[in-house]
Amino acid sequence: MRTHYCADINENHIGEEVTVAGWVSSRRDHGGVIFIDLRDKDEVVQLVCDPADNAEAHKTAEEVRDQFVLIATGKVRARGEGLENPNLKTGKVEIVVDNLVIENRSKPMPFDLDDEKVNEEIRLKYRYLELRSQKSYDIFKLRSKATIAARNSLDELGFLEVETPVLTKSTPEGARDYLVPSRVHPGEFYALPQSPQLFKQLLMVSGFDRYFQIAKCFRDEDLRADRQPEFTQIDVEMSFCTEDDVIAVAEKLINDIFTQCGFEIPKTFKRMTYHEAMEKYGSDKPDLRFDMAMVDVIDIFERCDNEIFSNIAKAPKRNRIKALKVPNGDNIFSKRQMKGFEDYVRKFGAQGLGYFQMKEDGLKGPLTKFFTQEDLNAIIERCELTVGDVVFFGAGEKKVVLDYMGRFRLYLAEIMEIIPDDVFEFLWVVDFPMFEVEDGRVKALHHPFTQPKSLDFDDIEEIESIAYDIVLNGTELGGGSIRIHKEDMQAEIFKLLGISEEEAQEKFGFLLDALKFGAPPHGGFALGLDRLIMLMTGTESIRDVIAFPKTQRAQCLLTQAPSPVDNEQLKELSLRIRQTPTA
Ligand code: AMO
Repeated sequence: MRTHYCADINENHIGEEVTVAGWVSSRRDHGGVIFIDLRDKDEVVQLVCDPADNAEAHKTAEEVRDQFVLIATGKVRARGEGLENPNLKTGKVEIVVDNLVIENRSKPMPFDLDDEKVNEEIRLKYRYLELRSQKSYDIFKLRSKATIAARNSLDELGFLEVETPVLTKSTPEGARDYLVPSRVHPGEFYALPQSPQLFKQLLMVSGFDRYFQIAKCFRDEDLRADRQPEFTQIDVEMSFCTEDDVIAVAEKLINDIFTQCGFEIPKTFKRMTYHEAMEKYGSDKPDLRFDMAMVDVIDIFERCDNEIFSNIAKAPKRNRIKALKVPNGDNIFSKRQMKGFEDYVRKFGAQGLGYFQMKEDGLKGPLTKFFTQEDLNAIIERCELTVGDVVFFGAGEKKVVLDYMGRFRLYLAEIMEIIPDDVFEFLWVVDFPMFEVEDGRVKALHHPFTQPKSLDFDDIEEIESIAYDIVLNGTELGGGSIRIHKEDMQAEIFKLLGISEEEAQEKFGFLLDALKFGAPPHGGFALGLDRLIMLMTGTESIRDVIAFPKTQRAQCLLTQAPSPVDNEQLKELSLRIRQTPTA
């Protein structure tokens, strides 16, 4: 229907007749002459309907309203002097219309497409209209480029794209499953995959050597700004590989994606152990766009005259006393802010928040009286304090202190606006613990198929695994591990996780079986594609980079899913709804 997309029309076409098609993004009636901004997928061109040129086209233009669908034919001409628009690719030209067809009309828009403050409920209900905006188109153009770059990169590296089932059995990735009832097997259910983890491992047993998939995953978990119930992974697995081999593939893949999308990033990324990340940044996904690392001061506090601190310091394995220096903080923060900081950390379990201010004549603050001059000097030296700095202290049980001090570090950086938003700071976090103990229950930190470095242990939480996460600007972009490929070790791990032999057999018997038939050493990783695009485009919410996302409450406002089904359908599935729980 068209001869050109709007974006392709420029001075080279002056004098030529063209036909364009798209939506009216604005219409201005300048006393007789009507100007229409016509927009197609990614650019606007100006149409001019002058009664002196073509009375009929002008008459049609009088009927035109925003978001009508038009097909316009006319001659391209240069815009008058001073009327050029440098913001448009087509800004030097306009089309003098001699045939205008209203292909379809539009009701007034339910919201202004360019207004980002419009409430999300309306935007998601009319998501197809929101997607009509330039901003959305640009996001999905980048997403498409990134996906194609990923496919090409992995294809070049010899990876085979294989689709794994969506109606399957549960894979434990730490969330609840979405279940699908079976009609032909009454009372039985499929689970939607939380990831293709087990199938990709089975493909290694098949000898496929290198697998990938752009895979949809489903997790019923609490949603946040960077989580959706269904999301996409770039999922990779390879055989006969070491951790370094897998990391090299991931770095090449990430480089190819970023390069194709027009960004320059380092060829290889820094690495940090989980232990160091937790001790210095209180997080397994530290944001390294700014420094502010925490420093251990438990040995100095052990000597102080305050029983609370010295008692905490007596158990250095269980407890932590961490210092967090804020350069020049004494000049930045008001008294009220300093008070507010304590309220902030209390929300995350802190008992209080001590601090010192570095003045011309040394350390000041309510705590100084408990320390000898020598120890105050030791703090100045350990924390590398200069005049104007403030140093905060968190003291207490290790997990709690690391958590709230890590959050506090981010909170302060945001208040101080010191986090640059135009850099990509990648980091591998390696050597994750194999297990964590929560309320007395042993859980796998990654998943139970991860290979431990050794199973010799006194404290189960000290077992390290060959697992790694890739972190970008403080967000977990992806993760992976070298897997267990021997059946006896896999059975042992299930045992440590408190999974009985029968349960292991019932849930993962197929995997344990497969491991008996010559499973090769293997490992892999998965990148969250949505998060990747989110970070590349600098958007705040994962919903912006998913075409038809769900709300925080896992609803699709456009289609109204989930929704009730009729009794006939339930009957076929041998299901009956018990009284719906009241809110
Ligand atoms: P993991 O569970 O770490 O690993 O997931 C990999 C990456 O997927 C993304 N992701 C999500 N993105 C959006 N919404 C969610 N709800 C969501 N959950 C996870 C994250 C995350 O880093 N099978 C393993 C990978 C492996 O070991 O190879 C796995 O799924 O970016």
